[in-house]
Amino acid sequence: MTKEMENKFSKKIQKLLEDKIGLLPESLSSQNWQTCIQNRMSASHLDSYAEYYAHLLASLTELQELIDLIVIPETWFYREERCFQFLTEYVKRYGEDYRKGTPLKILSLGCSTGEEPYSIVMCLLEAGMPLGSFRIEGVDVCKKSLDFAQKGLYSSNSFRGMKTKLRDKYFTQVDDKFLLNDQVRFTVKFKKGNVVNFPSGFTKNVYNMIFCRNLLIYLFPTLQVNLLKRLERVLVPKGILVLGEMEYDKITHLDFETVTLSNKTAFCKQDLEFRNPDIIDDLRKDLGVPSMKIQSGEKEVAIEKIRIMADRGDLEKANELIDDYCKQFEMGAEIYFLRGLMHHAAGNLKEAYRDFHQTVFLEPKHHEALTYLSLMSEGEMSERYKQRAEKFNQEL
Ligand SMILES: C[S@@+](CC[C@H](N)C(=O)[O-])C[C@H]1O[C@@H](n2cnc3c(N)ncnc32)[C@H](O)[C@@H]1O
Repeated sequence: MTKEMENKFSKKIQKLLEDKIGLLPESLSSQNWQTCIQNRMSASHLDSYAEYYAHLLASLTELQELIDLIVIPETWFYREERCFQFLTEYVKRYGEDYRKGTPLKILSLGCSTGEEPYSIVMCLLEAGMPLGSFRIEGVDVCKKSLDFAQKGLYSSNSFRGMKTKLRDKYFTQVDDKFLLNDQVRFTVKFKKGNVVNFPSGFTKNVYNMIFCRNLLIYLFPTLQVNLLKRLERVLVPKGILVLGEMEYDKITHLDFETVTLSNKTAFCKQDLEFRNPDIIDDLRKDLGVPSMKIQSGEKEVAIEKIRIMADRGDLEKANELIDDYCKQFEMGAEIYFLRGLMHHAAGNLKEAYRDFHQTVFLEPKHHEALTYLSLMSEGEMSERYKQRAEKFNQEL
């Protein structure tokens, strides 16, 4: 195969990875890309990029192996300590509600090898929150990192941000490593998940707080915007989003407002009641979101307006906005899905079914549409949709 052809397939592999996990190509040097790909080619006993590309398309296991090699897992305990000071302050003020009522639910998205979610647990325990008053989940696309996290065995490098006294309280030294105690370890529930498909398997208004730190910076700008919208949906009203310090400027989404506790900053999901969809565009301008972004986000803002109305149960207004949308833009999977929801809520099951069907035609892995189709079908058909929904929920 000519060098030119090899280059072409090497680029195709890179593009496949970008599509699968949203990774910005410049997150890795071209040398690193090549090294990762060549390592996997040699492990697969293949020596041409073209063959390896075909192998990647055919094997989800191999795709996962390459993803595991390419992601940037850099993390450590109590990284950016001010986030944990914010958490301490938060539970000082609101902890009582969670101790007496429903437990505090926190998601660590892009949890890597576990240092972040485990730091959250230790921080809560240190702040006087008893086990049982909180639930912590860790999600990451990297299977190897999750396996590592579950073992809870760390080298000294992971403790560069943590006080020795605290380390000695929660870890036992085993040779030159440190083993996390079972109490903290078993408190975190780890799950594989990909933000490109998020919130597949996640429902609305679930988490009181989401830590999503040092992940957005590696993603494509369009995916960043999309992810923030989705995070907003899975947070409860007034839920808190904790970002990495370098990611504050990613918040251009109007459903979040800055919240500061003892000089530590995070972002708070606004109450639905405070949102006025008619002023979204003006507010975006007021906030100084560059006009290019306003242009490219017009479709998304229109969809968001429909969602707000649907969330409020205002079917008439939502349908009106859907009609407006259809006049201005080409119908895409998401709009078919929303229209399907409207039909479903109004009891127009035939139309709803048709729209959900069209959604999965355009986006075959649309988990929510597949779930609706499964519930609305019978027998073998229902089973088939159910299996697809489950498959795509587990898959990348
Ligand atoms: C630099 S680490 C950040 C770890 C931790 N949040 C912190 O701030 O220390 C980024 C993590 O995001 C994960 N990641 C990258 N792309 C992802 C995707 N598409 N879906 C889910 N996780 C992803 C990587 O596997 C990696 O573990």
